[in-house]
Amino acid sequence: MKDAVPPAPQPVRLADYTPFGFLIDAVHLSFTLHPTATRVKSRITFRPNPDASDRRFFLHGEGLTLISARIDGQDCAPTLTDTGLEAAVPDAPFTWEAEVEINPEANTALEGLYMSNGMYCTQCEAEGFRKITYYPDRPDVMAPFTVAIDSDLPVLLSNGDPQGPGLWHDPWPKPAYLFALVAGDLVAHSDTFTTASGAPVDLNIWVRPGDEDKCAYAMDALKRSMRWDEREYGREYDLSVFNIVAVDDFNMGAMENKGLNIFNSKYVLASPETATDRDYAFIEAIVAHEYFHNWTGNRITCRDWFQLCLKEGLTVFRDQQFSADMRSAAVERIGNVLQLRARQFREDAGPLAHNVRPESYVEINNFYTATVYEKGAEVIGMLRTILGEDLYRAGCNLYFDRHDGQACTIEDWLACFEEVAGQDLSQFKRWYTQAGTPVLSASWAVEAEDFTLTLRQDVPPTPGQPLKEPMLIPVRLALYDSGAEIVPDTLVLLDSPEMTLRWPLKDLPPLAEVAPSILRGFSAPVILDAPLRFGQRLALMAEDSDPFNRWEAGRSAMRETLVNHIKGQKFVPPGLLAMLEVNLRDKSLDPAFRALMLALPSEDDLAQACVDAGIVPDPDTIHDSRRAVRHDIATTMAAEFRRQFDAMAPDGPYSPDAPQAARRTLRNTCLSYLTLAEGPALARAHYDGATNMTDQIAAFSALLEVGDPDIAARFEGQWRDDRLVMDKWFMLQVSEAAPDAAVPIAEGLTRHPLFDWKNPNRFRALMAGLTAANPAGFHHRSGAGYRFLADWLIRVDQTNPQTAARMSTAFETWRRYDADRQALILGELERISAAPSLSRDLGEMIDRMRGDDA
Ligand code: ARG
Ligand code: ZN
Repeated sequence: MKDAVPPAPQPVRLADYTPFGFLIDAVHLSFTLHPTATRVKSRITFRPNPDASDRRFFLHGEGLTLISARIDGQDCAPTLTDTGLEAAVPDAPFTWEAEVEINPEANTALEGLYMSNGMYCTQCEAEGFRKITYYPDRPDVMAPFTVAIDSDLPVLLSNGDPQGPGLWHDPWPKPAYLFALVAGDLVAHSDTFTTASGAPVDLNIWVRPGDEDKCAYAMDALKRSMRWDEREYGREYDLSVFNIVAVDDFNMGAMENKGLNIFNSKYVLASPETATDRDYAFIEAIVAHEYFHNWTGNRITCRDWFQLCLKEGLTVFRDQQFSADMRSAAVERIGNVLQLRARQFREDAGPLAHNVRPESYVEINNFYTATVYEKGAEVIGMLRTILGEDLYRAGCNLYFDRHDGQACTIEDWLACFEEVAGQDLSQFKRWYTQAGTPVLSASWAVEAEDFTLTLRQDVPPTPGQPLKEPMLIPVRLALYDSGAEIVPDTLVLLDSPEMTLRWPLKDLPPLAEVAPSILRGFSAPVILDAPLRFGQRLALMAEDSDPFNRWEAGRSAMRETLVNHIKGQKFVPPGLLAMLEVNLRDKSLDPAFRALMLALPSEDDLAQACVDAGIVPDPDTIHDSRRAVRHDIATTMAAEFRRQFDAMAPDGPYSPDAPQAARRTLRNTCLSYLTLAEGPALARAHYDGATNMTDQIAAFSALLEVGDPDIAARFEGQWRDDRLVMDKWFMLQVSEAAPDAAVPIAEGLTRHPLFDWKNPNRFRALMAGLTAANPAGFHHRSGAGYRFLADWLIRVDQTNPQTAARMSTAFETWRRYDADRQALILGELERISAAPSLSRDLGEMIDRMRGDDA
C-alpha cells in the first residue's frame, strides 16, 4: 500500500507567459552571515508595470523564515505559501522591506546560499534566489543591486563594483539568477586587463589558501577570452573588477553571475602534476564560456526559462569558436561532434527528447541539457553557415544594439537576422521547435546526361511530436572520383523532404565511381545515411580535403567493421588497418587528429549502431568485439605504435598548450595500444617516469585495463590528499573494470573513507565511471548495475535533487535493450518513483523516462 501521494506538480508552459505586474528600480540587500542562522534584509522599490495587466503581488520564496515585512514603512502581514507570499500593495510606486532567516549549513541541495568547506557561496540559476529572500524570481525582472555583507570572514564578495569593505554595487540591471555572494578565507591570484577603449579592470581568481599556484592557466584563459570577445564580437567588459571563485561543492560546471563568476574548482585549478591536458582544455573553454555570458546572457538575458538556449546555445557556440581559434579548428570540431553524438543524439533518440526551446517543464533544472546547450550551439552554427560570416556579424551587432538591457526571446534573436539578411527564417526556426535528430539520406546515380545526387530528410517522431515539418538543412558537400575532387565544396540548402541536384556530365571529367563527401564540417546536426562502399570510405580517409569528413570516413568504416564483428564476422579488414597505419605515419597531420583517427566508437555508440542496424544490442558482445578489434589493431600495428610513441616523446619543457597536448595525446594513444599488444611493462615505465598528470593517468588507465594488481594503491598513496586527482582515481577504477567486476568494485569504493557522496564531483566520478564509461558493467545481466544506481539515486535525491536527477539519465536508453534488461530497468524506475518524498526533479525525470509505461 502506498502513502497518500502528493499531487503531481503542474507543468509550466511557454504559452502561459505573462509579464510581472511590477518593475523594480533598485534592490538593496544586507546579509548578516551565520552558518545556521543568516539574516537577509531586503529593500526593494517597485512600481506598476505599464505593460502588465495582472497586478497580483506574488514574491517567490522557499524555505525562508519570515521575520518581518513592511510596505512603505508599515508592517504588513502577507499570505505565506510553500512557494512564496502574496500581499496587498498600492497601485503606485512603493517600497518593500523584508527580513528573513536562512540556514546555509543545512543547504545540501547547493542551490541558494550554502556552505562549502567553510566558505559561503551561492548558486541562483535557475530558481535559487527564492531560497535567499522573497523576490520575483524570474529572469524578465531586472534591477540594479546594492549588497552589504556583514561577517568576520576576510573576503566578502558580491556582484558589480566594490564600494567599501563588504559593500558592492552593480549598476547593470540584472535578473536575480545572476546574483552572487561569496564569503570566506580566500586568497587571490590577481592580474589586470585594459579594455580596448582603455578602461582598467582588476582580475582576481579566489581560491582556498594553498591553491593559489593552480590559477595561472585559468587567468591566462580569462585574458585571452576578454581580448577575443573584443576582436570577434566587439564586446568589452563593463565593470572595474572581474572576480572568479573556485568552490569544491558545485552542481554544475560554473556560473556567470555578473562580475562574480563561481566555478566548480575542477574547472579552475590546474597544475601540470594534477591536471590532464583535457582538464586544461575544459578550463579554457569554461572560463571563456562564463566570461562570454557577460554579453550573451547578462547584458541581454532571457525573458523566461523556455528561452534558455538564447543564452546557452549562443554562448556555447561562442566558446567553441574561441577554442577553435586557440587550438586546432579541425580537432575541436571533431571533439564537439563526438560530444554532441554521445550526449545529444542519445537524448534525442530516447524518452527525454525535447526541443532546443522546450514548451513545458516541471523542473527547469532538468532542461540544462545537451539539447539546449550543444544542439542549441549547432543551430547558431547553421545560422552562420546559411547567412555567411558578414551577415552573421551584422545580425549579432543588431541584437546587441537593439536588446542591450532586455530580457529576450528566440523570436527577438531571429528577427535581427531576418532584418539584416532580408530573409524569412520561419523554416529555420523549426530547429527550435521540433525535437529529434533528422536523418539525411543521400543517393546518387548517372541519369541520362546528368550526374544526380538526391538528398532526403526524415525527422523522427519524438514524445508529444508524432509528425514533423521539413527542416532547413545546410549541407556542405563536394564530389570525388578516383582520388580527385571533381566538384568543389558547395553549400546546398535542403528545404524540402527531398531534393535532387544535377551536374551535367559534359561539365565533369569522365566518371569512374563518384564518392560524394557530404555534410562537410558536420554542417548540420543530423544523421547522415550515405551508401558509400567500404572501399570508398577508406579512400576518403586519405583523399577528403575536409578534415572533418576525412575523420568521419574512418569513423564510419570503423563502425561498420565493429557492427559486422558484433554480428559474428570476427575480422578487421586489412584495408582499414592499412589506412589507419597510413594516417598514423602521416607527419603532415596534427598528432591530435591522428590520435582521433585511431579512436574507436564507444560502446554506447555501438549500442546505438546495433539498433540502427536492426539488432538488439548486447553490451557484453559489444564490449568483447570492441576489445578484440582494438587488440587486432594493436598487434598488427605494434611496430608503428612503438615508432610513434618514441617520436612523440617530449620536445621541450612542459606546456599545456595545444601543440604539446597533441603530442601527448598521440603518444598516450600509442601507449594504450602497446599495452594491449605487449603487456604492462611500457605502461609501468611510463607511470614511473611521468612528470605530468596526462601521462600518469594514461599509464594508470592502461594498467588498470590489463589488471595491474597494485597500481590503484600506489596512485592512492601518492594523491590521497588531492580531491580533484582522487576523483579520477574513483572514476577510472570503475570505468576500466572488467564487466563482471565493475559493480562490485564500484560498491566497494562507496565504502572507501574518501567517498564523500555529498560532494557532486566525487559522486558523479564514481557513478559515471560505471554508467557512462563502463556500459557492459552497468548493463550487467544480473541487474546489479541498475539496482546500484537506483539505490544511490534514491539516497542522493534526499540531499541533492539536481544531482540525482542528472545522474538518472543513465537509464534513458532503456528501450534499446532486450526484454529482460528492459524489465529490470523498468522495475528500478518504478521503485524510484515509489520512493518516499521523491523530489520534483527526480520525479519528473523518472516519469518522462517511463513514458507510456508509467
Ligand atoms: N548558466 C550556467 C552555465 O551554463 C549553468 C548553470 C546551471 N545551473 C543549474 N543549476 N541549472 O554556464
Ligand atoms: Zn552557460
